[in-house]
Amino acid sequence: MELENVEKLASEEIDSCEDLDSLNETRVKYLGKKGLIQGFMSKMKDLSNEERPKFGALVNKIKQAIDEKIRDAQEKLEQKRINKKLESEAIDVTLPGYKFNIGVIHPLMQTIEEIEDLFIGMGYEIAEGPEVEEDLYNFELLNLPKDHPARDMQDTFYINPNVLLRTHTSPVQARTMLAKKGKPIKVICPGKVYRRDDDDATHSHQFMQVEGLVLGKDISLSDLKGTLLEVAKKVFGNERDIRLRPSFFPFTEPSVEVDVSCFKCNGKGCPICKNSGWIEVLGAGMVNNNVLKMNGYNPDEIQGFAFGIGVERFTMLKYGIEDIRNFYMNDTKFLNQFKGVK
Ligand code: DAH
Repeated sequence: MELENVEKLASEEIDSCEDLDSLNETRVKYLGKKGLIQGFMSKMKDLSNEERPKFGALVNKIKQAIDEKIRDAQEKLEQKRINKKLESEAIDVTLPGYKFNIGVIHPLMQTIEEIEDLFIGMGYEIAEGPEVEEDLYNFELLNLPKDHPARDMQDTFYINPNVLLRTHTSPVQARTMLAKKGKPIKVICPGKVYRRDDDDATHSHQFMQVEGLVLGKDISLSDLKGTLLEVAKKVFGNERDIRLRPSFFPFTEPSVEVDVSCFKCNGKGCPICKNSGWIEVLGAGMVNNNVLKMNGYNPDEIQGFAFGIGVERFTMLKYGIEDIRNFYMNDTKFLNQFKGVK
């Protein structure tokens, strides 16, 4: 090969290199120890003293030019490699994210939380009691002695003659009174209760209640009515009204059944309210003097009201659910309907 052609050939070959490996091969071919440039260098010994410096200077110049060209190419190929890597690792921030399937707060818990928020806002505390309860708290201290006929109102799961699964959240009333020792009380008690019922569309052997108890000086039935009106508005809508009807519970005297004006027809009459314009929602009353006395309170100084909300009933009415068993089947098709309700 002629020395004059070397630079041009090297240049073409360098330009055609597509990666660092082939560029390195080209470098070795031209600039390596056994490379073409070295080949020309070794020819110098055959030249005359006159020619040698000129030829040497020319070879050196070509060597430098090739070297420079290879460095440039190396830089470019290196950059190309980095760009390719960055491109492959690039994240498209405009792509939609992964969808996480988060669960739903159970509709019964949504109702309880709603009721709790309302009562906490009115200065109530939340009290809890055991689900495996003594007959003493579930019945006796609530004015239901052993042979009292009203015990039949609540079919009970007995564990032994003195221990049972609580049939209502009212025993927490007795426990709270005994703990507060004659002092004023404002509590609600949410929780599970149990009855020896056959499960059907409106009965469940396990369900939930929120008990309420307020004791203080000069608490009257109108305080109860005002409080329950707030509950009805919060749960069933602001336009609701309530009415009290006389009823009977051993632990309250007088006792009342509370109706809320029908939220479907606004009181005009429809299938939900059986054309009466009113829907029965809960039981309540003024705490019976016997209950006050048995639990360490003097009825001449302090009195108050109590109520028991059925959480399933509230929730079924609110959403038009017809079968109580829906709450306990863990069917996600049913439960997912309550997504975003709260
Ligand atoms: N404990 C009653 C039940 O389970 C509900 C109830 C009625 C609770 C009247 C009360 C009340 O506190 O005053 O059927």
